[in-house]
Amino acid sequence: MDSVEKRLMDESDTETTTVKKQHLDTNSENYDIKQPIEHKEELFNGVEISKLTKRQMKKYKRMLQWQVIKKEKRAREKLRTKNKKVVAKLLNIDLGPNRKQLKNAKMVNSACKIGVVIDLSFDELMIDKDMGKVIKQILRVYTENRRATAPMQLHLTSFNGRNKEEMSKHNGYENWDMHFHANDYLDVFPKEKLVYLSSESDNVIKELEQDKIYIIGGLVDHNAHKGICYRKAVSQGIAHGQLPISEYFNFKARKVFTINQVFEIMLRVSEGKSFKDAFEMVLPKRINMKPTI
Ligand SMILES: C[S@@+](CC[C@H](N)C(=O)[O-])C[C@H]1O[C@@H](n2cnc3c(N)ncnc32)[C@H](O)[C@@H]1O
Repeated sequence: MDSVEKRLMDESDTETTTVKKQHLDTNSENYDIKQPIEHKEELFNGVEISKLTKRQMKKYKRMLQWQVIKKEKRAREKLRTKNKKVVAKLLNIDLGPNRKQLKNAKMVNSACKIGVVIDLSFDELMIDKDMGKVIKQILRVYTENRRATAPMQLHLTSFNGRNKEEMSKHNGYENWDMHFHANDYLDVFPKEKLVYLSSESDNVIKELEQDKIYIIGGLVDHNAHKGICYRKAVSQGIAHGQLPISEYFNFKARKVFTINQVFEIMLRVSEGKSFKDAFEMVLPKRINMKPTI
């Protein structure tokens, strides 16, 4: 499969996969052989259409079929969005920020000045699979922050080596609205502004402060390195604190959350929710959490 075709294929979603397969099945009765031939394209991948090999021609036809499907898919999506808006208006439902509002909701314009650092200095403690999970969680963090009307000030530090390589698999990440630093957070921010988040800390965070920078350990370790971020903060002489889950819930499970859960809890709190509500919104229902008050 060549790169253009792969890209076109990658753009598909589950809903269209079945449709696409039907269209692409050249043995199927549904396969419309006329349609690609009617197309006006003169070159395909730099080769004249009349000079395409049998295999290239097959790819070319599949590409044309996909273009048709894509158009249909876009039209369906447009209609769905339109209907959703009409229903929302009738029922007085807030659909959240629209595309235009989101485009303007950049960190630089955000009313929220709370900083969040994801510390990526733990590469050597992780196997490739877990490194991949860290980057996946960062993608979720980024998506949540982009959806927010007042995004938090998001930074990746020690962004170099394996973590950067893993991130490079995501095309165009350099243009994301997120700050990338190859250096450690100690080289980037004043020490007194930093608060390392750790479930092992005895300090319970009651509220988020606008001029502080909260550090989340960029680590997926299945608790193999229990307390590593806490010890790091202590040895570096920086403040540390845990999220106040025990203040609100009798929490049976471990209090160690994923990177994106910690971020989302903080984002909800930065938006004005209480910590209690934020925990309920972000943590999965199956976690056994009984309110203490
Ligand atoms: C999967 S945890 C990593 C656990 C790792 N063994 C450690 O000791 O830090 C990812 C990060 O989320 C943050 N975190 C997770 N649970 C937390 C909690 N209950 N309170 C504060 N921060 C938490 C910490 O910064 C932690 O490093």
